[in-house]
Amino acid sequence: MSLMMDRIDALRKEFKSAIAQATLVRDVEAIRLKFTGRKGSVPELMKELKDCSIDEKREFGPKLNDFRQEIEAAIATRAKELVDGAEKAKASAIENFDVSARVPSSRKKGTTHPYSQIVERVENTFLSMGYSIFDGPEIEDDYHNFGALNIPENHPARDMHDTLWLNRRSHLLRTHTSTIQIHAMESRKLPIAGIAPGRTFRHEAVDASHDVMFWQCEGLFIDKGITMSHLFGTAKAFLSSFFDTDDIDIRIRPGYFPFVEPGVEIDMRCVFCKDGCSVCKKSKWVEVFPGGMVHPNVLKSAGIDPEVYSGFAFGFGLSRLVMLMHGISDIRLLSSGKIPFLRQF
Ligand code: DAH
Repeated sequence: MSLMMDRIDALRKEFKSAIAQATLVRDVEAIRLKFTGRKGSVPELMKELKDCSIDEKREFGPKLNDFRQEIEAAIATRAKELVDGAEKAKASAIENFDVSARVPSSRKKGTTHPYSQIVERVENTFLSMGYSIFDGPEIEDDYHNFGALNIPENHPARDMHDTLWLNRRSHLLRTHTSTIQIHAMESRKLPIAGIAPGRTFRHEAVDASHDVMFWQCEGLFIDKGITMSHLFGTAKAFLSSFFDTDDIDIRIRPGYFPFVEPGVEIDMRCVFCKDGCSVCKKSKWVEVFPGGMVHPNVLKSAGIDPEVYSGFAFGFGLSRLVMLMHGISDIRLLSSGKIPFLRQF
């Protein structure tokens, strides 16, 4: 008889310690199955009780029933506690979400691409000079890339651009951002002052200094009475703001581009050295940008009267500028997406 009582006591002890340790709702369910499930310890004891004497049944039947109810109540209470606790923890995590918490320093942070950095810097410099930012399509037609820029079909200047033609032979990937001059003149009111940074494409043999995709930035200023000296002044002001120095010296050489007349090459005295370095290739001068006075034919093609208006245009290689500034020796790295390279910026 007392054996039955001992077994109930032992089971009660076991149950109490198990339920106290349960931290998840599914632990509680496992305990329920173990003690009161169909094959659980309590039903097993009940089965055994069937073979016992009437006296035993009378004494232990109600005890076993009480034990079963005790278990069921304890299980319901613990399960509720756990569910409430989890909900509270969730709510408090949302409520106490600390937006200013420090991110562990081991987390890898992303950075902006060197191209994005230079575009932002060039744009800010020109915006501060009153210019706007222009945009245009990367897929162009022959007219905007060549014809309107005074490069008619069969013009030898077309050979300067190794063009990536699309299957529709009338379209191509723009070979320079000068196309945006035409879009700007077609869609904007005069006077026009803007720059247009963007990607350009050429069918190049790829090496450390040539890639099929590279970045350029075009500049255009059209108004009444614009002269070459405005171009030189603008070049100096831009370089001085960009390189953050008043000590900018430029020199001008003649240059030929069909869409400007006269055309020039503007060089800057090397800002990285005094007596020659790898950037200026020991020459103390760095080629910065070509430009010139917008050709009357270009103005005419956009319906602007060259007798009334004049303007200057220039275009420089952003890829080259990025490489110059950061001492990058291989242009291919810039579009490689290589994380160890990008993480340096
Ligand atoms: N589009 C020329 C190129 O890709 C660069 C250029 C030269 C742009 C002279 C100009 C310019 O606006 O006036 O080589």
